Amino acid sequence: MRGVALAVVAALVGCIGTDDGTVAIPVLDPLVFREDVQPILATRCGNPTCHGRADRPFSIYSAGAYRADPARTFLDEPLTPEELAQNYIGACGFALELESTSPSSCELLQKPLAIDAGGMGHLGGDVWIDERDREYRTVEAWVRAPLDPPEEARQ
Ligand code: HEM
Repeated sequence: MRGVALAVVAALVGCIGTDDGTVAIPVLDPLVFREDVQPILATRCGNPTCHGRADRPFSIYSAGAYRADPARTFLDEPLTPEELAQNYIGACGFALELESTSPSSCELLQKPLAIDAGGMGHLGGDVWIDERDREYRTVEAWVRAPLDPPEEARQ
């Protein structure tokens, strides 16, 4: 069920990119997101003083922390399909490349990457010391493997 829900969201993400002035955000693999990327974002970014909150443009729901239903905030239970879908769409949005032909130039990678390693600067500090960091490489591999957007998004 979760895979199907996320696949539907992936199809919807592709449609956000039309030629009426909106920005086409990358359609990235929702299942790799759920299995490999979400756990990293939850652990490294999801703290309530960081991105585990509603007032950050990049906000992350995670078990035991920020939840869509405030009554569930500190419950250690899996995210709902809707929360996971929101995290996925948010991460795809910040995976938008800032320099053409350089997928790794996106804020999702460049913000937490240390400035000494080419990062863009981040009030949250250096989460990843350099590009050899295993977590950085997991998120980068996801960012660099977009799915083909659905037909209607290519028109
Ligand atoms: C791998 C983990 C992390 C990722 C992927 C990440 C990503 C980002 C992104 C994309 C932004 C720009 C959008 C926004 O303002 O929300 C940002 C900004 C910010 N982040 Fe993080 N972050 C991470 C960890 C953290 C942590 C641990 C903290 C707190 C200690 C933090 C605090 C902040 C703050 C205060 C800003 C706004 C100021 C700025 O733009 O530098 N972040 N981060």
